[in-house]
Amino acid sequence: MSHHDERTFVMAKPDAVQRGLVGEIIDRLEGRGLKLVGAKFMQIDEDLAHQHYGEHEDEPFFDDLVAFITSGPVMAMVWEGADATRQVRQMMGTTDPAEAQPGTIRGDLGLDLGQNVIHGSDHEDPGANEREIDLFFDEDELVDYDRSDEPWVYEDVDN
Ligand code: RTP
Ligand code: MG
Repeated sequence: MSHHDERTFVMAKPDAVQRGLVGEIIDRLEGRGLKLVGAKFMQIDEDLAHQHYGEHEDEPFFDDLVAFITSGPVMAMVWEGADATRQVRQMMGTTDPAEAQPGTIRGDLGLDLGQNVIHGSDHEDPGANEREIDLFFDEDELVDYDRSDEPWVYEDVDN
C-alpha cells in the first residue's frame, strides 16, 4: 500500500439518483484524480440503514434519516486516493447544504439538510471508512488496478 491507496466509502443518496446527479458526483471525484474501485447501484433496506447510521440512533432525526436513505436506490461506491477520506469530505461540503460553500458538491447541488445529495465516510472517526466499505462491499467486489494518469496526478509515481 502506498500513501495514495487510502479507500473511502461514498454514496450518491436517493435524492441524487432521482435528480440525475450520479454522473456529476462521479465526474467530480474522477476528475480530482480519485480512483473508483467499487460501485453498486442498490436499494438500502431498513437493517442496513440502521447499521450504517447506527451512530445517530438516539438522535431525533434518526427515523427521518432511515426513511430517506431507504426511500429509493442509491449508488454506493469506494474511491481510492491520497488522503481520500478527508479529501472527499472537503469536496462534499458541510452537512447542511444551506451552509455549504459554493464549489462543494452540497453547496452547488443541494438546499436541504435532510436531502444533502452525498454521503462520505467521516475522516474524524478513525476506521469509519473501512467499517462502511465492509458493510456495503465484499472484498471480491473491489478492484485493484492502476489508472493510466496516476503519474500525472502523483509526483512520486513513475511513468
Ligand atoms: P452523512 O453521514 O449522511 O454523510 O452526513 P454527515 O456526515 O455530513 O452528517 P451526520 O452528522 O453524519 O448526519 C447524518 C445525516 O443526518 C441528517 N441530519 N439531520 N436534523 C438534523 O439536525 C440533522 N442532522 C443531521 C443529515 O441528512 C445528515 O446527512
Ligand atoms: Mg456522517
